[in-house]
Amino acid sequence: MKRILVTGGAGFIGSNFINYILSGRKDVFIVNLDKLTYAGNLKNLTGVESHPNYKFIKGDIVNDELVKYIFEKYEITHVINFAAESHVDRSILGSEIFFRTNVLGTNVLLENAKEFEIEKFIQISTDEVYGSLGSEGQFEETTPLQPNSPYAASKASADMMALAFHHTYGVPVVITRCSNNYGQLQFPEKLIPLMIINALNNRKLPVYGDGLNIRDWIYVIDHNKAIELVLDKGKIGEVYNIGANTEKTNIEIVKLILNQLGKPKELIEFVKDRPGHDKRYAINSNKIKNELGWEPGHSFETAMKDTINWYLENVNWWTEIISGDYRNYYKLQYSSQKMYV
Ligand code: NAD
Ligand code: DAU
Repeated sequence: MKRILVTGGAGFIGSNFINYILSGRKDVFIVNLDKLTYAGNLKNLTGVESHPNYKFIKGDIVNDELVKYIFEKYEITHVINFAAESHVDRSILGSEIFFRTNVLGTNVLLENAKEFEIEKFIQISTDEVYGSLGSEGQFEETTPLQPNSPYAASKASADMMALAFHHTYGVPVVITRCSNNYGQLQFPEKLIPLMIINALNNRKLPVYGDGLNIRDWIYVIDHNKAIELVLDKGKIGEVYNIGANTEKTNIEIVKLILNQLGKPKELIEFVKDRPGHDKRYAINSNKIKNELGWEPGHSFETAMKDTINWYLENVNWWTEIISGDYRNYYKLQYSSQKMYV
């Protein structure tokens, strides 16, 4: 039995991961430690809340006493660290909490992983640590780190700390660096759910700059299957890139959403660019394919359709979110004169 501390399991990728892994396996016990920030939502986990192999604990990964207690009481053998402040725009509005959770929080988990001599520590990182590409090339695991946003810098710091713990103390660290995820349960501050929900509400769709920045998209379930493989077979001390070779400009994504929803292009509004906006991400995942046998299982066209349909069918899920604190964030990010061209 793997006794896994999943951190940030009430967020988008973490909750999809827990739902996925508990639906298919009996050899895992999951302790989900989540602070329930604005991005954490226990409604994402209603299907597993009474599962015998699942325990939720509300708390902060920075809280060393709590983390120690969990490692000891639940005899943790593995950690999958999803917990993070994850939104680039919020990191531009204020970076401190990004440093606190993403760097200090990871450090607390690593110290405890060392003390309790666990079997594997998976740090869920991001392709953003590599910085931005020109029109050619892809990020490889050996690409030097050149993070540009405060969010990316905090994730790169955590990666370096994790690798240093492996190098110095032999903590069994593995790092995954994935590209942009989409799918059900994604908080509507991110491009795809934000655009779907605004279109459904006939609100403007704020496209930063010229809309020609490129992201490399992957369906969240394909990401989670890669993490499962890393959990079972990933080699200690290694970094694995994860991506599905699906580069799209932002404007392509926005038009696709409008098209599927039958909404007019006039809803698109080009607004002031994100400061320091990375131009292009593209990730090479040959290593995880060749060494662990991973392949993405979903086509972009089908999985995007399913994602849009999920938001159509789960209006209550997102209505609750956008009528709460989200309104203040939205105003701050999008309504100020400074933001619009
Ligand atoms: P999310 O913002 O949806 O969820 C983050 C979760 O972490 C929330 O449930 C939140 O409550 C929790 N959390 C935040 N601070 C915490 C703290 N101090 N202690 C405990 N819990 C805390 O994020 P996501 O999109 O699901 O991303 C999950 C991880 O994957 C992050 O580490 C992110 O950097 C990484 N990642 C995300 C993407 C993407 O496209 N979303 C791509 C690659 C990597
Ligand atoms: O690449 C992986 C990363 O992808 C993850 O590490 C991050 O956690 C995740 O948030 C994501 O970062 P991005 O900044 O790429 O994602 P976001 O959805 O915020 O933006 C995607 C693109 O869309 C980006 O070029 C900015 C643009 N955009 C975004 C928003 C929210 C807009 O044009 N308008 C918007 O309103």
